[in-house]
Amino acid sequence: MASEKQQLSMLSLACVLLMLVQEMRCLASTRSSSKMEVEALLKWKSKLDNKSHSTLSSWNGSSPCSWRGIICDSFGSVASLNLSHSAIDGTLQHLNFYHLPNLVVLELANNSLFGNIPPGIGDLSKLTYINCSQNNFSGNIPTQLGSLRSLQILALEDNNFTGPIPSSIGNMSSLWKLDLPRNHFVGSIPKEIGMLGSLNFLDLSSNNLIGSIPKILGNLSTLQYLFLYGNQLSGAIPLEIEGMRSLIKLQLLGNNLTGPIPSSIGNLTNLSDLRLFRKYVIGSYPILHR
Ligand SMILES: *[C@@H]1O[C@H](CO)[C@@H](O)[C@H](O)[C@H]1NC(C)=O
Ligand SMILES: *[C@@H]1O[C@H](CO)[C@@H](O)[C@H](O)[C@H]1NC(C)=O
Ligand SMILES: *[C@@H]1O[C@H](CO)[C@@H](O)[C@H](O)[C@H]1NC(C)=O
Ligand SMILES: *[C@@H]1O[C@H](CO)[C@@H](O)[C@H](O)[C@H]1NC(C)=O
Ligand SMILES: *[C@@H]1O[C@H](CO)[C@@H](O)[C@H](O)[C@H]1NC(C)=O
Ligand SMILES: *[C@@H]1O[C@H](CO)[C@@H](O)[C@H](O)[C@H]1NC(C)=O
Ligand SMILES: *[C@@H]1O[C@H](CO)[C@@H](O)[C@H](O)[C@H]1NC(C)=O
Ligand SMILES: *[C@@H]1O[C@H](CO)[C@@H](O)[C@H](O)[C@H]1NC(C)=O
Ligand SMILES: *[C@@H]1O[C@H](CO)[C@@H](O)[C@H](O)[C@H]1NC(C)=O
Ligand SMILES: *[C@@H]1O[C@H](CO)[C@@H](O)[C@H](O)[C@H]1NC(C)=O
Ligand SMILES: *[C@@H]1O[C@H](CO)[C@@H](O)[C@H](O)[C@H]1NC(C)=O
Ligand SMILES: *[C@@H]1O[C@H](CO)[C@@H](O)[C@H](O)[C@H]1NC(C)=O
Repeated sequence: MASEKQQLSMLSLACVLLMLVQEMRCLASTRSSSKMEVEALLKWKSKLDNKSHSTLSSWNGSSPCSWRGIICDSFGSVASLNLSHSAIDGTLQHLNFYHLPNLVVLELANNSLFGNIPPGIGDLSKLTYINCSQNNFSGNIPTQLGSLRSLQILALEDNNFTGPIPSSIGNMSSLWKLDLPRNHFVGSIPKEIGMLGSLNFLDLSSNNLIGSIPKILGNLSTLQYLFLYGNQLSGAIPLEIEGMRSLIKLQLLGNNLTGPIPSSIGNLTNLSDLRLFRKYVIGSYPILHR
């Protein structure tokens, strides 16, 4: 009986608390939809071509959370920049990443962006997803990318990137998918890739990579997809490949690989798509399994 009144006052207390929390959220969001983020985005927009300006006509004023392609976190800070398939034409040189510290998703696939990926991207410590595929980016991948320890997906396929794949990639300990095909990468496959203990998908196909397949890749026990075809890799397929026990697809065609096919491949029980040499296209080859 006494509790009815108590319940009522508890309820109003809860209401007041809730209002306080919402008020704080609101304050936080006006504070952190910060001028800094707005200025960074508007400056970038101002350097894009005219057609992109009309695509981004909603990018105006001081509340970026409602702009095209922007998603904010619960504090009103910019968390996702997603402008895939938007015909955006320009570079990233004038996008000040340092002023977008809470960015988690950077999705710019299938636009007409060109120039380098600026090293400043390494400041975005919360990034988990980068997809800049199908653009005209060129130059080297900045080594600073290796600082992104939360990054799970890095997709840069179908661009004009050159230079080596930086060994700093081995520091991206959360990386799950590394998708770099159809560029002009040179040099050898960095052995540091073997340190990526969560890697599930590795595609370096159709580049200009040379050297042998590093033995240490055999440490990638969670890797399910490995595509290295269309490079100039040489030497033998390492016996250590047996360590990639989760492999489902392995495609090494169109390289200069020599030597015997390691019989340990027969121990990869889930392997169902195996293409090793141009002359022997072996698809779905259960006979290899014991
Ligand atoms: C962009 O538009 C402005 C005014 O609308 C015009 O003066 C300028 O020449 C245009 N620039 C290009 C590259 O089309
Ligand atoms: C941007 O907003 C201002 C005022 O809010 C308005 O006057 C202006 O026309 C807007 N510009 C565009 C391109 O929408
Ligand atoms: C980006 O936006 C597109 C289209 O709105 C959507 O299909 C895609 O899933 C989004 N990407 C991410 C990473 O959220
Ligand atoms: C790329 O984006 C354009 C729009 O700018 C769209 O028409 C086209 O279908 C997209 N291509 C792919 C492969 O998604
Ligand atoms: C990146 O974007 C392209 C184009 O939308 C898409 O086909 C591809 O699956 C995306 N990659 C990843 C890893 O999400
Ligand atoms: C890349 O640039 C070339 C040459 O400037 C152009 O022909 C091509 O359409 C561009 N590709 C993309 C995806 O923007
Ligand atoms: C790469 O650059 C060349 C010219 O340097 C251009 O013809 C080609 O379209 C570009 N490739 C892509 C995928 O944009
Ligand atoms: C990887 O991280 C370690 C520790 O932060 C650092 O000492 C090392 O230089 C980094 N490696 C590369 C190749 O960037
Ligand atoms: C690779 O695996 C071997 C054997 O499990 C281990 O001794 C070695 O430290 C691993 N190397 C790296 C770089 O993780
Ligand atoms: C690959 O093999 C071809 C033909 O045997 C040879 O001409 C070429 O130099 C080799 N390339 C490399 C990178 O070893
Ligand atoms: C092979 O695939 C099955 C079914 O998806 C899975 O349960 C098993 O863990 C996989 N084996 C390895 C070694 O990854
Ligand atoms: C397959 O694995 C078994 C058990 O680990 C091992 O005894 C055998 O030698 C392996 N076979 C090959 C061809 O490596």
